Amino acid sequence: MPAQVITVTSGKGGVGKTTAVANLAVALASNGSKVVCIDGDIGLRNLDVILGLENRIVYDIVDVIEGRCRLKQAMIRDKKLPELYLIPAAQTRDKNSVSPSDMNRLVKDLRNDYDFVLIDSPAGIERGFRNAIAAADRVLVITNPEVSAVRDADRVIGILEAEDKGPAALIINRLNPALVKKSDMLSADDVLDLLAVELIGIVPEDENVIISSNRGAPVAHDPKSKAGQAFRNIARRLKGEKVPFLDLDSSGSLWERLQRLAGRK
Ligand SMILES: Nc1ncnc2c1ncn2[C@@H]1O[C@H](COP(=O)(O)OP(=O)(O)OP(=O)(O)O)[C@@H](O)[C@H]1O
Ligand SMILES: [Mg+2]
Repeated sequence: MPAQVITVTSGKGGVGKTTAVANLAVALASNGSKVVCIDGDIGLRNLDVILGLENRIVYDIVDVIEGRCRLKQAMIRDKKLPELYLIPAAQTRDKNSVSPSDMNRLVKDLRNDYDFVLIDSPAGIERGFRNAIAAADRVLVITNPEVSAVRDADRVIGILEAEDKGPAALIINRLNPALVKKSDMLSADDVLDLLAVELIGIVPEDENVIISSNRGAPVAHDPKSKAGQAFRNIARRLKGEKVPFLDLDSSGSLWERLQRLAGRK
């Protein structure tokens, strides 16, 4: 079976694209899939740091595209998962060093040898975004439950439809059930009402995400983290499994939930 090529994008910056790519890559590779992730954020590479591979970079994606090395030479094998590879972004180049047709060529060479190619997109809807979606079979749009992030996600979902890359699937990241409960944060249902796309996962706010990213070992490795569990569930859904969504609302007592359901709270 040829690879599924999946791009994670968002519109708004800082909502968790790179975190999602790293964690989905780890979850898929831990589960027996052969995975390559590509850092499409030329000039601001990050995925290498979250995966703990920054010291192993010799060549990058622009070196491959400009013929300074072979594709295999730019592929860095993960330290823990032998079936996981990273193609790092160039740090010193601007995003115009890569074109959508370059991305298509690069990904074509990977399709037959891997199960998943995951592409991390830069923020925005400029050239870097166009490069990141060019080769995608499927696009995951990630948003936080915040009005500005949801608005940008909506714009991106519209562009993806217009470019025949839709329908996108949605990841809601950094949901805080306690804030939702106090009506201080949009709920997952609110976000879905606004965006009207298929939901593929809800990832809770979890400080372990930041701690593990700083250590270069994505939280999907951690069996106890709720965010890790959420990413592992999304990975299984990408493989076509039906996996129920996590009950993130379990922070209140059953009594509180019953009262709320009865309309008293
Ligand atoms: N579920 C989460 N819980 C807590 N922190 C999170 C969560 N998801 C992401 N973060 C943190 O949010 C910050 C931004 O995440 P990340 O770099 O993945 O976003 P991005 O969309 O790739 O940003 P950019 O647009 O700059 O590329 C990081 O510090 C990350 O650790
Ligand atoms: Mg990023």
